[in-house]
Amino acid sequence: MKKNNILIAPSVLAADMLNLGADIRRTEKAGADWLHLDVMDGVYVPNMSFGFDVIKAICSIASITLDVHMMTVRPDKYIDRLAAIGADGVTIHEKTCEDTRKTLEAIKAAGMRCALAVKPKESVELIAPYADILDMALIMTVEPGFGGQKFMADMMPKLDRAREIFAEAGREADLQVDGGINAENAPLCISHGANVLVAGTYLYKADDMKANCEALRLG
Ligand code: DX5
Ligand code: ZN
Repeated sequence: MKKNNILIAPSVLAADMLNLGADIRRTEKAGADWLHLDVMDGVYVPNMSFGFDVIKAICSIASITLDVHMMTVRPDKYIDRLAAIGADGVTIHEKTCEDTRKTLEAIKAAGMRCALAVKPKESVELIAPYADILDMALIMTVEPGFGGQKFMADMMPKLDRAREIFAEAGREADLQVDGGINAENAPLCISHGANVLVAGTYLYKADDMKANCEALRLG
């Protein structure tokens, strides 16, 4: 039973890649709301993860929302394929394609939710020009590229400002945090207005993923 509106999005990057199917089933049984899929191309970030075939395989067995975080250049080239294989939402980073608005619009036109991520060194103001169409803003709490890094508490004011930016545009949107999230810092994120919590290491390395999901959700 969910006690509040916090959504938990386990980051598959931290799953057991040799037993991915079992880990996806474990994630669903644990009561997670979304699956967070980190796509890294070795160009936009200094690491590579997985691509379409793996996402497609995950889509074929998962029934929860599939949230794709594109840490790649030219995410605009992949929108149709992501929609075709069953992604529910796509998050992109600023300056990865020629026309951010056009890409966000294309994500929506393909029937998916669109989101823009803000890296630690970027200003949250970069979401303002798109506040009218964004379904979500992702406030990164680590430098993108790797799981298992330390949470940056100094990103919290960006959540407050993001909420304000959406309110100024007369909209409500989801606010997601990603990077180093655990039960100790989740209450801080939630108190600053985050409602979608991504967690990789904290959930997949847990003996009892369900208990850890609940610990995050209750903040
Ligand atoms: C970092 C990714 C995150 C990361 C989260 O580039 O976007 O989704 O895998 O993993 P943890 O919770 O281990 O920091
Ligand atoms: Zn991510």
